[in-house]
Amino acid sequence: MEQRKGRRLVLFPLPFQGHINPMLQLANILHSKGFSITVIHTTFNSPDASQYPHLTFCPIKEDLSESEASISDVVSLLVLLNVRCSDPFRDCLSGLLAEASEEEPVACLISDAGFFFTQGVANRLGLPRFVLRTGGACSFVVFAAFPFLKDKGYLPVQESNLEELVVEFPPLKVKDLPVVDTKKPEELYQLVDRMVNETKASSGIIWNTFQELEESALTKLGKELTTRMYPIGPFHNYCPASSSSLLEQDRSSIAWLNKQEPRSVVYVSFGSMAAISEADFLEIAWGLANSKRPFLWVVRPGLVRSNKWLVKLPDRFLEDLNGRGHIVKWAPQLEVLAHPAVAVFWTHSGWNSTLESICEGVPMMCTPCLVDQKVNARYVSDVWRVGVQVENGLEREKIGMSIRRLMVEKEGDEIRNRILCLKEKASLCLSNSGSSFQCLDQLVSHILSVES
Ligand code: UDX
Repeated sequence: MEQRKGRRLVLFPLPFQGHINPMLQLANILHSKGFSITVIHTTFNSPDASQYPHLTFCPIKEDLSESEASISDVVSLLVLLNVRCSDPFRDCLSGLLAEASEEEPVACLISDAGFFFTQGVANRLGLPRFVLRTGGACSFVVFAAFPFLKDKGYLPVQESNLEELVVEFPPLKVKDLPVVDTKKPEELYQLVDRMVNETKASSGIIWNTFQELEESALTKLGKELTTRMYPIGPFHNYCPASSSSLLEQDRSSIAWLNKQEPRSVVYVSFGSMAAISEADFLEIAWGLANSKRPFLWVVRPGLVRSNKWLVKLPDRFLEDLNGRGHIVKWAPQLEVLAHPAVAVFWTHSGWNSTLESICEGVPMMCTPCLVDQKVNARYVSDVWRVGVQVENGLEREKIGMSIRRLMVEKEGDEIRNRILCLKEKASLCLSNSGSSFQCLDQLVSHILSVES
């Protein structure tokens, strides 16, 4: 632990699992660098403060009703959060500034890029704001190009040209553009526009990525933006994880993995937000069953667009597999990926999952569902070439073929070698002279130099 810096930082995560995890990891990293940390958080999806006795937590009441909080349209929910949090966040932050002691002034705000309203609040309070971008630089490049993509006619995405290459952004195809299925595309464009512009207006952008992984995207952004950038990831590799899980992690996953052969298991998880149809759910079930491989499958409540957990799984599905399959509602994913029994990660390509898989050297099978996940998946399959995609619909035969590509064919060995190489780079970048290590020192100096 470094000497205390005599400065307090205020952090504000978006209340979703894939955003809370990296923000609290960042809190731990900056605390270990000597800063005191206050986390302002919404009451909706509030983190478990007892896991972080060294941090201070301040809840705000954003007054989201249960039906509003369960909106399945992620764009509308984000827009609503930016409206509802505005007053309570401003009141909370100005209270913190008023109460701050002379010995420990608040140096800056670090908020999620998705909370774009916070830039205006910080400006009005005269407090510098840094942005945490929880997704990759590769997808941010595309978000920043939305006006161009609209001008060129790539957006809104047309069903007729999904397979077409976006020539200005190879190897992305039109179907990889980071959009959501929404009836209100203009609402999405406005949201992305605000997210990008308020990020550009910040004092610095903190990325959960590393230079060696996203060199070209970071260089491109470095030319386009005047904002200083700090790729200091992978965050979870810095220190043992405190759990910021909103759902209870089922430990039976590890007990079950302990009984499996080394490098034999397909681990399947589609993260915290993706939702699939009952038909896709069944194809996944049969694809896994027919693959003859052991599988650990996270079926999160809400993963299937129906009311009941596992409602449509065939009778005796698991029993007939004689222990070859294990299903849980939520797993300790970092431990699962580090387990020697795991051979393949079938993922929705959320940015955290992608980084976590890279850091453990586990080849990926990708089924992206929404926004940035599609860009991440294309980078996994076509740029870093550390996984394959199950494209254009989930069918049990295709699923079986993808598992074979990774676990049986020579291509699978090549993919494994490449991801082990990336794993090595992910670990080296945090060593003394590594790129993320150096960037973190620069970030600390920058924070210490800003005047609020
Ligand atoms: C979404 C986006 O897809 C992602 O790219 C963006 O940056 C954040 O929001 P999400 O669906 O939550 O993310 O996926 P991901 O980014 O992969 O994050 C999921 C997190 O939950 C990971 O840290 C993972 O370790 C954890 N997890 C997942 C568990 O702890 N247990 C599980 O069973 C599944």
